[in-house]
Amino acid sequence: MSSTKIWTHKGTFLLAAVGSAVGLGNLWRFPYLAGENGGGAFILIYAVTIMMVGIPILIAETLLGRAGRRSPIMGMKYLTESHGTSKGWRAIGWMGAAAAFIILSFYSVIAGWAIHYTGLLFSGSLDGASADAIGDSFGDLLASPGLLLTYHTLFIAASGLIVGLGIHKGIESGLRWMMPALFLILLIVLGYGVMVGDAGAALSFLFTFNFDDLSLEGWLQAMGQSFFTLSLGMGAIMAYGAYMSSETSLTKTAISIAVVDTLIALMAGVAIFALVFGSGMEAAQGPGLMFVTLPIAFAELPGGSILGGVFFVLVIGAAITSSISLIEPVAAFIVERFGLSRPVAVGLMVSACWLLGLATVFSFNIWAEGTISHQLFGRSPFDVLEFITNVLMPLGGLLIALFAGWALSREEVVKEMSTHAGWFEVWQFLVRFIAPTAVAFVFLRTMPQVEGYVAPAIGAVIIIGAFTAGRTFMVRR
Ligand code: PHE
Repeated sequence: MSSTKIWTHKGTFLLAAVGSAVGLGNLWRFPYLAGENGGGAFILIYAVTIMMVGIPILIAETLLGRAGRRSPIMGMKYLTESHGTSKGWRAIGWMGAAAAFIILSFYSVIAGWAIHYTGLLFSGSLDGASADAIGDSFGDLLASPGLLLTYHTLFIAASGLIVGLGIHKGIESGLRWMMPALFLILLIVLGYGVMVGDAGAALSFLFTFNFDDLSLEGWLQAMGQSFFTLSLGMGAIMAYGAYMSSETSLTKTAISIAVVDTLIALMAGVAIFALVFGSGMEAAQGPGLMFVTLPIAFAELPGGSILGGVFFVLVIGAAITSSISLIEPVAAFIVERFGLSRPVAVGLMVSACWLLGLATVFSFNIWAEGTISHQLFGRSPFDVLEFITNVLMPLGGLLIALFAGWALSREEVVKEMSTHAGWFEVWQFLVRFIAPTAVAFVFLRTMPQVEGYVAPAIGAVIIIGAFTAGRTFMVRR
């Protein structure tokens, strides 16, 4: 049962993939990771990883989606059958769906914080508040299961509504007005940051390459971030790729996605650090950068409550265009596999995700550190969920690279990659050797027992093993 649904416009895949890529990862995670890891050097590693690993895997994942023309789970089933490869590769679809499901459950809770701050800033309740008071108000938000739950519900329901309306009426038409609007808001916020903040300090922080600031940990974080920000390894891109027109160039599209995603992260970084430095604060504030440091800056600066509110609208919008791409792979699978209608499938997926989201909600209050449940398990449920996705994401990326690089038939790949021969070879080399090696490093760093340089060493062994196995067992003769 193949779905022959295709996006109405040739450019929609690009729009949808950028919508998926640009999200909390760009606006919240990228700036604070850059801040914690010394700015420029982190960004350089990040950019190199995007080029050498991110883009090749992005091409591979889109290719698998388009070649399968089904939801990731059913598409991988089809591809393994039509290529006579091991059934084991179907794990790509299942792991992706599982990761998408788990990520959405906490992504929605965090995006909900932005709803809270939109209200706080627009209503002027932060005007003239002291830094301590603003820090405390974030603490109060986290301490309130009721508030977190309300925002989580609102956010996930809004996302579900869009996907429930279908890929044309919901996703496609939603993105057609949301994406330009979000870009416009980003320009306004950037303009404001440059005018009232210290853009010079922001630029020199982001573009001075001081390698002494960069630890191995920072290096690996930059690689992990390049995965998260491009939405790789979670079936999101594969699900959207299933609706991509056969005429659109994979290479050009993937490069455009990566370039736009990186530019937006940098623009957000300049805006945020200009405001933070302009108010005399430090870069290395960690995850609280957006929800504590930035509101403090907005509370001090002229016009800050309005512009701050506008900024958080941007955060909510960017998060919605990402979360719909997390719903799509699972919902499309439920429709295909069980023949349910789309609204019912989305309803099921979103309700189950909402329920799992409670674990994240309670992680900040009734199950937080110091409570009995935390002592029982040693970490909060949120930490556990995040850890699982940090494993599934690179593992999915690794398998996607290996499957597209080694197991797919040459005809299939050549058919999909109708770009000129030189680039094809480059892509194949990156996806066969460089990407898997790099991803294995990232993956192994998430294993708590593997420390320091042991991870790269084990990674190399795994990769050599995988290549040997790939040559022997995976390639179809
Ligand atoms: N790329 C999104 C972001 O930067 C997060 C995401 C990951 C979305 C995976 C979909 C799939 O926020």
